[in-house]
Amino acid sequence: MSDVLNDLKMLLHRTIPSANIIPTRMPLTPWLQLWLLDDSNMDRPFSPEEIRVIWEAPPYWCFCWASGQIMAQYIEQNPDSVKDKVVVDFGAGSGIAAVAAAKFGAKRVIACDIDKDAIVSCKANAALNNVEIEFSEDFFQLISELNEPIDTILAADVLYDRDNIPLLSLLRKECKSILMADSRVKNLNVEGYQQFSEGNAETLPPLERFDEFKHVIIYRAAGDTEINQP
Ligand SMILES: C[S@@+](CC[C@H](N)C(=O)[O-])C[C@H]1O[C@@H](n2cnc3c(N)ncnc32)[C@H](O)[C@@H]1O
Repeated sequence: MSDVLNDLKMLLHRTIPSANIIPTRMPLTPWLQLWLLDDSNMDRPFSPEEIRVIWEAPPYWCFCWASGQIMAQYIEQNPDSVKDKVVVDFGAGSGIAAVAAAKFGAKRVIACDIDKDAIVSCKANAALNNVEIEFSEDFFQLISELNEPIDTILAADVLYDRDNIPLLSLLRKECKSILMADSRVKNLNVEGYQQFSEGNAETLPPLERFDEFKHVIIYRAAGDTEINQP
């Protein structure tokens, strides 16, 4: 087993000691696999206590969220959205959007997540899908160090934390365009963001608690660096 996969399994066992992760093919984008929680190796459903622990300190990276799946499908159907571009997957989690961007010809892809464990997951999933991805734990440090402009920021299911809503305006300042997929905020009202696509997917592995979050809206915003071009 590779070192990164070993590390990932150890991180999972800290939260759910009896759990395992397995390569899981995404139903909407079967060319893409992720190391996700294996709910079939358990001879019982998650106990209420396990669900409580998962809900309180979620290892987001071992689930694939509906928004990430719809974003990957969008990228497959619209490869020009990433081809030859510098792409940042903000709130990458498992890195599904980053993997999709790398698969469909992005020039450079950076998976960014504040959760160190998610970065390990992105590394394992980049290896699983044979793609090259860079990593960052801090978006603002990333932009201060990047030696070229960001073309596209992808953000899937980051508004579960409402504190991220004000960040949407800041993200626009740092790129040419943003694609944001979300299933939780039903009437997003942030200047510049327009709804333009939608889809349905189920969080994997499925947890009943997430059923209400199956319908995903994709928003698009032009970034300031595009708007301000001469
Ligand atoms: C619900 S998960 C979505 C993961 C993935 N994008 C998907 O759709 O499957 C949200 C992720 O965003 C990350 N996140 C939340 N706020 C963030 C921030 N301010 N900067 C970077 N990552 C953030 C979390 O750590 C988590 O991994």
